[in-house]
Amino acid sequence: MPRWIYTAIILVNLVMIIPPVLIYKARSTKSRQPRIHLFPDMDNQKRFKEQQANPLFADGRAMRLPAAGTVARGELFSDDHYYRGRTSDAWATAFPQQVTVNADLVDRGRDRYGIFCTPCHGISGHGDGMIKLRSESLEQTWEILDLNTQKARDYPVGHIFNIMTNGINTMPPYRSQIPVEDRWAIVAWVRALQYSQAVEVSQLPPDVQGALRARKPRDENPKDVMPTDVKPIDQQPKGTKPGGK
Ligand code: HEC
Repeated sequence: MPRWIYTAIILVNLVMIIPPVLIYKARSTKSRQPRIHLFPDMDNQKRFKEQQANPLFADGRAMRLPAAGTVARGELFSDDHYYRGRTSDAWATAFPQQVTVNADLVDRGRDRYGIFCTPCHGISGHGDGMIKLRSESLEQTWEILDLNTQKARDYPVGHIFNIMTNGINTMPPYRSQIPVEDRWAIVAWVRALQYSQAVEVSQLPPDVQGALRARKPRDENPKDVMPTDVKPIDQQPKGTKPGGK
């Protein structure tokens, strides 16, 4: 075979390496350029992004305010009792008429309380949630209040609703995470919790009383005892992040 055929085969093979190398480079390096867009359709158009300036308007803003005196449909929120927990000048002491207090509401409240409040206030509301334990283990102090004090038991329902809506002192507000109807459900559950933590045993139905009395003290009930291989929080190494880093 003539030599040039060998040369040609070698050259062709070398040239064939180039496309995979280019593909590998494109896939493994970062680029500030947008991807190749074969069919642009109308995906990319000139537009103003939120918070950008727009010289078209006198105030120079691209985002427009709603016309003065208008209310978006369904956003009137004029009912002070339902949306703010207030009646005329005081915290509402009863649930608003939109809310039916029944077992379903309390169940929903328990569920939402478990998600949003237990991290700080703990399952029974004594202010001993995981965040509290964690802050103690880092030797920080964050006073998370007990929801079962006489003070908190005396709060009208509207006040508890408002604390969830707007937060209080170092407690953040939850209005953007918890919709109004769920906040009322949580109020119902907080009330149930407060009742559960202060009730006289003699006021309970006889069968519940019986079950309570039949229960063994904590130490003798194997279900209540912590597994031995888990160290109490104050004996865990300080300053470690969950996940061990
Ligand atoms: C991030 C932690 C955190 C979460 C989550 C949290 N709270 Fe609080 N809460 C606090 C702290 C801290 C205080 C005490 C604020 C202060 O110093 O007055 C407090 C105070 C309160 C009080 C007032 C108690 C009193 O005696 O004045 C109520 C009621 C309350 N929280 C209800 C709730 C409810 C209901 C939820 C769930 C929607 C919730 N909190 C979620 C941290 C939290």
